[in-house]
Amino acid sequence: QKDGYEWYMLKEIVEQPKAVADTLLGRHTQDGRLQLDEMRLSDDELRNVDKIVAIACGTSYYAAMVAKYAIEHWTRIPVEVELASEFRYRDPILDQSTLVVTISQSGETMDTLMAIRYARQQKARVLSICNTNGSTIPRESDAVIYTHAGPEVAVASTKAFLAQIVACYVLGLYLAQVKGAKYGDEIARILDDLIATPAAIQRMLDEADVVRKIAADLNGARSFIFLGRHVGYPVALEGALKLKELAYLHAEGFAAGELKHGPIAVIEEGVPVFVVVPPPGRNEVHEKVVSNIQEVRARGARTIVLAEDGDESVVPYADHLIWLPKVPTLLQPLVATVPLQIFACEFAAQLGHDVDQPRNLAKSVTVE
Ligand code: M6R
Repeated sequence: QKDGYEWYMLKEIVEQPKAVADTLLGRHTQDGRLQLDEMRLSDDELRNVDKIVAIACGTSYYAAMVAKYAIEHWTRIPVEVELASEFRYRDPILDQSTLVVTISQSGETMDTLMAIRYARQQKARVLSICNTNGSTIPRESDAVIYTHAGPEVAVASTKAFLAQIVACYVLGLYLAQVKGAKYGDEIARILDDLIATPAAIQRMLDEADVVRKIAADLNGARSFIFLGRHVGYPVALEGALKLKELAYLHAEGFAAGELKHGPIAVIEEGVPVFVVVPPPGRNEVHEKVVSNIQEVRARGARTIVLAEDGDESVVPYADHLIWLPKVPTLLQPLVATVPLQIFACEFAAQLGHDVDQPRNLAKSVTVE
């Protein structure tokens, strides 16, 4: 049921505060410790993990990219991020101390399933993060953490993405707790911040009109660039993917630091460039991203800047501004992705496209 929304996608975007809250529910104690009753791997097995390989496709792959920054930071375990479709064709190095983490909304993606089968043959342990109870991927895994986003009907993934990031963070914090890692004392603090994010996401929904106006102003644009850095980089990739899928237009995401290594050549008069700006303050890449905004604007780009409340440094270079609530850097994807989803949905609707059933795409890709 669309509950009065024009599109399932819009309904699912609006359900994101609940998807995030439900994915945290029952997985922590009052005093800030993680508890994963469903975790079928023992603490000893987890302490033995010396490498994580996160494998997924599409939007789920971008969740894995976000997770890498957090899990490595909290646990000091190296995390490799792999496209499922590439993974088993390149002779990957796996053994009993490798934890393969697969991420899938549907639990039926063939590329991801084949990666799991390959990893298990190589004796790696497989933990899946999945949104669909009883689907094939969790059934074939050693352990599972379900995302509790509820059924996702629109082909374009939205609430599952946010829930996947949260589930990955729960896993990362749990591993840090089990290992007693260097950053283990951050667990209670970051958990409190995570618990507070549904309210921050709700604010992004309440301010959706700002994004709708930007979509109307950019009507006529046919090529879009998205820039981000650190965890903002996968957010940029996800913003571009959403727009490609729904609007059938050229949209590309880049790591902002790569701009001068090539992509800046495509910037020309009038091209819209979305920039996800990391929180200022102690963030060492913030200034660099602000310089990137100046660089593209000097070449005629129309800049749409997503920046934290009160970050006045971006104001002179922004043609459009989307303010983000103050959250720790690692949680910024949970708020910054929301306006990009809304933008893609609005822009595609403006073009008269079927937002829920974009051409050429299926909700779950069950062929390789
Ligand atoms: O069900 P999965 O999470 O395994 O699906 C992976 C991708 O096919 C999926 O995220 C796809 O990229 C979506 N259409 C993105 O909106």
